[in-house]
Amino acid sequence: MAGYLVEDTRKVTTHRLLEMKQAGKKIAMLTSYDYSMAQIVDAAGVDIILVGDSASNMMAGNVTTLPITLDQMIYHARSVVRGVKRALVVCDMPFGTYQVDPQDAVRNAVRIMQETGCDALKLEGGVEILPAVKLILDAGIPVMGHLGLTPQSINKFGTYAVRAREEAEANKLRTDAMALDEVGCCAVVLEKIPADLATEVSQKIKVPTISIGAGGGCDGQVLVVHDMLGMNKGFSPKFLRRYANLYDIMIDAIGQYVTDVKSGDFPNQDEQY
Ligand code: KIV
Repeated sequence: MAGYLVEDTRKVTTHRLLEMKQAGKKIAMLTSYDYSMAQIVDAAGVDIILVGDSASNMMAGNVTTLPITLDQMIYHARSVVRGVKRALVVCDMPFGTYQVDPQDAVRNAVRIMQETGCDALKLEGGVEILPAVKLILDAGIPVMGHLGLTPQSINKFGTYAVRAREEAEANKLRTDAMALDEVGCCAVVLEKIPADLATEVSQKIKVPTISIGAGGGCDGQVLVVHDMLGMNKGFSPKFLRRYANLYDIMIDAIGQYVTDVKSGDFPNQDEQY
Protein backbone atom coordinates (compact mmCIF):
# COMPACT_ATOMS: atom_id res chain seq x y z
CA MET A 1 0.00 0.00 0.00
CA ALA A 2 1.45 3.37 -1.02
CA GLY A 3 1.61 6.71 0.75
CA TYR A 4 1.25 8.07 4.28
CA LEU A 5 -0.75 5.00 5.31
CA VAL A 6 2.44 2.93 5.41
CA GLU A 7 3.96 5.25 7.99
CA ASP A 8 0.93 5.94 10.15
CA THR A 9 -2.24 3.88 10.34
CA ARG A 10 -3.76 5.85 13.24
CA LYS A 11 -7.02 7.73 12.68
CA VAL A 12 -6.27 11.12 11.10
CA THR A 13 -7.15 14.06 13.37
CA THR A 14 -7.15 17.81 12.81
CA HIS A 15 -4.02 17.96 14.99
CA ARG A 16 -2.31 15.46 12.66
CA LEU A 17 -3.05 17.71 9.67
CA LEU A 18 -1.06 20.47 11.35
CA GLU A 19 1.80 18.04 12.08
CA MET A 20 1.78 16.98 8.43
CA LYS A 21 2.11 20.59 7.28
CA GLN A 22 4.91 21.24 9.76
CA ALA A 23 6.72 18.07 8.62
CA GLY A 24 6.29 19.00 4.95
CA LYS A 25 4.11 15.93 4.28
CA LYS A 26 1.47 16.52 1.62
CA ILE A 27 -2.18 15.82 2.46
CA ALA A 28 -4.30 13.72 0.08
CA MET A 29 -8.05 14.42 0.11
CA LEU A 30 -10.87 13.04 -2.06
CA THR A 31 -14.65 13.21 -1.99
CA SER A 32 -17.01 10.33 -1.21
CA TYR A 33 -20.77 10.35 -0.85
CA ASP A 34 -21.57 6.73 0.04
CA TYR A 35 -20.40 3.77 2.12
CA SER A 36 -18.96 1.62 -0.69
CA MET A 37 -16.82 4.38 -2.22
CA ALA A 38 -15.70 5.64 1.21
CA GLN A 39 -14.42 2.14 2.15
CA ILE A 40 -12.25 2.03 -1.00
CA VAL A 41 -11.00 5.63 -0.69
CA ASP A 42 -10.10 5.06 2.97
CA ALA A 43 -8.37 1.73 2.29
CA ALA A 44 -6.22 3.41 -0.39
CA GLY A 45 -4.70 5.74 2.19
CA VAL A 46 -6.46 9.06 1.56
CA ASP A 47 -6.01 11.36 4.59
CA ILE A 48 -9.24 13.37 4.38
CA ILE A 49 -12.56 12.25 2.92
CA LEU A 50 -14.82 15.15 2.01
CA VAL A 51 -18.55 14.54 1.91
CA GLY A 52 -18.82 17.41 -0.54
CA ASP A 53 -21.99 19.18 -1.47
CA SER A 54 -20.84 18.24 -4.98
CA ALA A 55 -23.06 15.25 -4.11
CA SER A 56 -25.74 17.57 -5.49
CA ASN A 57 -24.10 17.29 -8.94
CA MET A 58 -22.56 13.82 -8.75
CA MET A 59 -25.32 11.90 -6.93
CA ALA A 60 -28.49 13.84 -7.76
CA GLY A 61 -27.65 15.26 -11.22
CA ASN A 62 -28.24 18.90 -10.28
CA VAL A 63 -26.43 21.60 -12.26
CA THR A 64 -25.15 23.34 -9.09
CA THR A 65 -24.50 22.53 -5.44
CA LEU A 66 -27.28 24.83 -4.26
CA PRO A 67 -30.27 22.43 -4.16
CA ILE A 68 -28.81 19.85 -1.76
CA THR A 69 -30.43 19.99 1.69
CA LEU A 70 -29.18 19.51 5.23
CA ASP A 71 -31.07 16.19 5.54
CA GLN A 72 -29.54 14.95 2.28
CA MET A 73 -26.00 15.90 3.38
CA ILE A 74 -26.60 14.14 6.70
CA TYR A 75 -27.68 10.98 4.84
CA HIS A 76 -24.52 11.04 2.68
CA ALA A 77 -22.16 11.83 5.59
CA ARG A 78 -23.64 9.11 7.81
CA SER A 79 -23.14 6.54 5.03
CA VAL A 80 -19.53 7.65 4.48
CA VAL A 81 -18.64 7.57 8.19
CA ARG A 82 -19.76 3.92 8.37
CA GLY A 83 -17.18 3.01 5.71
CA VAL A 84 -14.16 4.87 7.12
CA LYS A 85 -11.55 3.67 9.61
CA ARG A 86 -8.58 6.03 9.18
CA ALA A 87 -9.37 9.18 7.20
CA LEU A 88 -10.65 12.41 8.74
CA VAL A 89 -14.25 12.80 7.49
CA VAL A 90 -15.27 16.37 6.66
CA CYS A 91 -18.84 17.23 5.71
CA ASP A 92 -19.84 20.31 3.71
CA MET A 93 -22.47 22.54 5.32
CA PRO A 94 -24.94 23.00 2.46
CA PHE A 95 -26.06 26.32 0.98
CA GLY A 96 -28.36 28.30 3.26
CA THR A 97 -27.52 26.46 6.48
CA TYR A 98 -24.87 28.92 7.78
CA GLN A 99 -25.14 32.17 5.82
CA VAL A 100 -28.42 33.48 7.25
CA ASP A 101 -27.92 33.54 11.02
CA PRO A 102 -24.84 32.46 13.05
CA GLN A 103 -27.01 30.90 15.79
CA ASP A 104 -28.81 28.88 13.16
CA ALA A 105 -25.42 27.87 11.75
CA VAL A 106 -24.32 26.38 15.10
CA ARG A 107 -27.62 24.51 15.46
CA ASN A 108 -27.19 23.04 11.96
CA ALA A 109 -23.51 22.25 12.62
CA VAL A 110 -24.37 20.43 15.85
CA ARG A 111 -27.04 18.44 14.00
CA ILE A 112 -24.57 17.28 11.35
CA MET A 113 -21.98 16.28 13.96
CA GLN A 114 -24.50 14.44 16.17
CA GLU A 115 -26.37 12.65 13.39
CA THR A 116 -23.41 11.65 11.20
CA GLY A 117 -20.38 11.08 13.42
CA CYS A 118 -18.18 13.06 11.01
CA ASP A 119 -15.02 14.78 12.28
CA ALA A 120 -15.25 18.33 10.90
CA LEU A 121 -17.34 20.66 8.75
CA LYS A 122 -16.46 22.76 5.70
CA LEU A 123 -17.97 26.20 5.07
CA GLU A 124 -17.47 28.41 2.00
CA GLY A 125 -16.49 32.06 2.46
CA GLY A 126 -14.26 34.46 4.39
CA VAL A 127 -14.85 37.39 6.73
CA GLU A 128 -18.56 37.56 5.89
CA ILE A 129 -19.17 34.16 7.54
CA LEU A 130 -16.65 34.64 10.37
CA PRO A 131 -19.30 35.08 13.13
CA ALA A 132 -20.78 31.68 12.19
CA VAL A 133 -17.33 30.06 11.96
CA LYS A 134 -16.39 31.40 15.42
CA LEU A 135 -19.58 30.12 17.05
CA ILE A 136 -19.18 26.68 15.46
CA LEU A 137 -15.56 26.53 16.66
CA ASP A 138 -16.71 27.68 20.13
CA ALA A 139 -19.07 24.68 20.16
CA GLY A 140 -15.99 22.46 19.79
CA ILE A 141 -16.55 21.63 16.12
CA PRO A 142 -13.51 21.78 13.78
CA VAL A 143 -14.05 23.96 10.70
CA MET A 144 -12.35 23.77 7.31
CA GLY A 145 -12.53 26.98 5.26
CA HIS A 146 -13.05 27.21 1.50
CA LEU A 147 -11.98 30.25 -0.57
CA GLY A 148 -11.58 31.15 -4.25
CA LEU A 149 -14.12 29.63 -6.61
CA THR A 150 -16.72 28.75 -3.98
CA PRO A 151 -19.43 26.85 -5.90
CA GLN A 152 -22.28 27.95 -3.59
CA SER A 153 -21.67 31.50 -4.93
CA ILE A 154 -21.72 30.48 -8.60
CA ASN A 155 -24.76 32.64 -9.31
CA LYS A 156 -22.91 35.70 -7.97
CA PHE A 157 -19.75 34.88 -9.99
CA GLY A 158 -21.69 33.96 -13.15
CA THR A 159 -18.72 31.91 -14.39
CA TYR A 160 -16.50 28.97 -13.37
CA ALA A 161 -13.38 30.90 -14.48
CA VAL A 162 -10.28 31.22 -12.26
CA ARG A 163 -10.88 33.59 -9.30
CA ALA A 164 -8.64 36.23 -7.68
CA ARG A 165 -6.68 37.16 -10.79
CA GLU A 166 -7.42 40.83 -10.05
CA GLU A 167 -5.51 42.47 -7.18
CA ALA A 168 -8.63 43.51 -5.23
CA GLU A 169 -10.01 39.95 -5.14
CA ALA A 170 -6.55 38.53 -4.41
CA ASN A 171 -6.21 40.93 -1.46
CA LYS A 172 -9.62 39.91 -0.13
CA LEU A 173 -8.60 36.26 -0.39
CA ARG A 174 -5.36 36.99 1.56
CA THR A 175 -7.41 38.74 4.29
CA ASP A 176 -9.97 35.91 4.40
CA ALA A 177 -7.30 33.20 4.66
CA MET A 178 -5.53 35.05 7.50
CA ALA A 179 -8.86 35.51 9.32
CA LEU A 180 -9.81 31.82 9.01
CA ASP A 181 -6.32 30.84 10.20
CA GLU A 182 -6.38 33.22 13.19
CA VAL A 183 -9.84 32.20 14.31
CA GLY A 184 -8.74 28.54 14.48
CA CYS A 185 -9.88 26.72 11.33
CA CYS A 186 -8.16 23.36 10.83
CA ALA A 187 -7.42 23.83 7.11
CA VAL A 188 -8.48 25.96 4.14
CA VAL A 189 -9.46 24.69 0.68
CA LEU A 190 -8.30 27.00 -2.12
CA GLU A 191 -10.26 26.44 -5.31
CA LYS A 192 -9.23 27.57 -8.81
CA ILE A 193 -6.98 30.53 -8.01
CA PRO A 194 -3.53 31.39 -9.46
CA ALA A 195 -0.80 29.05 -8.18
CA ASP A 196 1.46 31.95 -7.08
CA LEU A 197 -1.27 33.38 -4.85
CA ALA A 198 -2.06 29.94 -3.38
CA THR A 199 1.64 29.35 -2.65
CA GLU A 200 1.95 32.74 -0.96
CA VAL A 201 -1.14 32.09 1.21
CA SER A 202 0.10 28.58 2.07
CA GLN A 203 3.40 30.01 3.31
CA LYS A 204 1.66 32.76 5.31
CA ILE A 205 -0.93 30.77 7.26
CA LYS A 206 -0.25 28.17 9.95
CA VAL A 207 -2.89 25.64 8.94
CA PRO A 208 -2.75 23.46 5.82
CA THR A 209 -4.12 24.69 2.52
CA ILE A 210 -5.76 22.12 0.26
CA SER A 211 -5.78 22.88 -3.46
CA ILE A 212 -8.31 22.12 -6.13
CA GLY A 213 -6.94 23.86 -9.18
CA ALA A 214 -4.69 26.08 -7.03
CA GLY A 215 -1.37 24.41 -7.82
CA GLY A 216 1.39 22.41 -6.19
CA GLY A 217 2.42 25.05 -3.63
CA CYS A 218 -0.46 24.10 -1.35
CA ASP A 219 -0.09 21.65 1.54
CA GLY A 220 -2.49 19.13 0.04
CA GLN A 221 -4.73 18.36 -2.92
CA VAL A 222 -8.40 17.46 -3.29
CA LEU A 223 -10.33 16.13 -6.28
CA VAL A 224 -13.85 14.85 -6.77
CA VAL A 225 -13.37 11.08 -6.77
CA HIS A 226 -15.71 10.48 -9.73
CA ASP A 227 -13.66 12.96 -11.80
CA MET A 228 -10.24 11.46 -11.00
CA LEU A 229 -11.55 7.94 -11.65
CA GLY A 230 -12.82 9.03 -15.07
CA MET A 231 -16.49 8.32 -14.35
CA ASN A 232 -17.53 11.80 -15.45
CA LYS A 233 -16.63 11.96 -19.15
CA GLY A 234 -17.84 15.48 -19.89
CA PHE A 235 -15.71 17.26 -17.27
CA SER A 236 -12.08 18.03 -18.27
CA PRO A 237 -10.74 21.15 -16.54
CA LYS A 238 -6.99 21.81 -16.77
CA PHE A 239 -6.43 20.93 -13.08
CA LEU A 240 -7.96 17.45 -13.33
CA ARG A 241 -5.66 14.42 -13.61
CA ARG A 242 -7.53 11.22 -14.53
CA TYR A 243 -6.12 8.12 -12.82
CA ALA A 244 -8.51 5.66 -14.47
CA ASN A 245 -11.13 5.53 -17.18
CA LEU A 246 -13.95 3.90 -15.24
CA TYR A 247 -16.64 5.23 -17.56
CA ASP A 248 -15.39 3.06 -20.44
CA ILE A 249 -14.55 0.13 -18.15
CA MET A 250 -18.05 0.17 -16.67
CA ILE A 251 -19.77 0.57 -20.04
CA ASP A 252 -17.80 -2.45 -21.35
CA ALA A 253 -18.59 -4.58 -18.28
CA ILE A 254 -22.29 -3.68 -18.17
CA GLY A 255 -22.61 -4.03 -21.94
CA GLN A 256 -21.09 -7.53 -21.71
CA TYR A 257 -23.59 -8.42 -18.94
CA VAL A 258 -26.50 -7.27 -21.13
CA THR A 259 -25.16 -9.36 -24.05
CA ASP A 260 -24.72 -12.42 -21.81
CA VAL A 261 -28.23 -12.15 -20.31
CA LYS A 262 -29.85 -11.73 -23.70
CA SER A 263 -27.89 -14.60 -25.27
CA GLY A 264 -28.63 -16.93 -22.34
CA ASP A 265 -24.91 -17.25 -21.55
CA PHE A 266 -25.48 -15.89 -18.02
CA PRO A 267 -26.08 -17.66 -15.70
CA ASN A 268 -24.29 -20.90 -16.61
CA GLN A 269 -24.48 -24.26 -14.74
CA ASP A 270 -21.94 -23.11 -12.11
CA GLU A 271 -23.82 -19.93 -11.41
CA GLN A 272 -27.11 -21.47 -10.29
CA TYR A 273 -28.35 -23.73 -7.43
O1 KIV B 1 -18.12 19.77 -2.75
C1 KIV B 1 -16.96 19.49 -3.12
O2 KIV B 1 -16.69 18.45 -3.73
C2 KIV B 1 -15.90 20.43 -2.78
C3 KIV B 1 -14.54 20.19 -3.36
C4 KIV B 1 -14.56 20.46 -4.80
C5 KIV B 1 -13.49 20.95 -2.65
O3 KIV B 1 -16.13 21.37 -2.08
